[in-house]
Amino acid sequence: MPAKSILVLHGPNLNLLGLREPQHYGNTTLESINQTLADKARQANIELSAFQSNSEADLVTKIQAIATNGVDFVIINPAAYTHTSVAIRDALSAVKVPFVEVHLSNIHARESFRQHSYLSDIAIGVISGLGAQGYLLALDYATQYITQGEC
Ligand code: DQA
Repeated sequence: MPAKSILVLHGPNLNLLGLREPQHYGNTTLESINQTLADKARQANIELSAFQSNSEADLVTKIQAIATNGVDFVIINPAAYTHTSVAIRDALSAVKVPFVEVHLSNIHARESFRQHSYLSDIAIGVISGLGAQGYLLALDYATQYITQGEC
């Protein structure tokens, strides 16, 4: 059986993690988060790839590609597009991929414009406010989901 695969998507400005507003987003760099996720996935014999873009179009194109490349699960931090992007929502719905939405900060404890997500109601779940650890918890869940079925 081919290895299961997980795609981790990071939206705009997350390339600046480590430098950007550490009071909200912590000190861990995106590279370090991706490396930790890749190591953990490898131990579970899962292929994991990560993609960051500041462009909504690139994120939509990457999601559309799931229709043919067989990604089994998506972990996505859409960043600011969480609050604006019907296009990313529609792409995730179109490819019918199970996904978890992750935010480093607790978006519900911040400005009112951050408190609405265009993705949350179609996500399996949302992790918000647990910093970089949120990605690892999402990976634990995704690993169980794709190896043992819905949990
Ligand atoms: C974020 C929260 C968003 O509101 C913000 O625009 C981001 C990051 C988070 O991880 O906490 O860029 O998604």
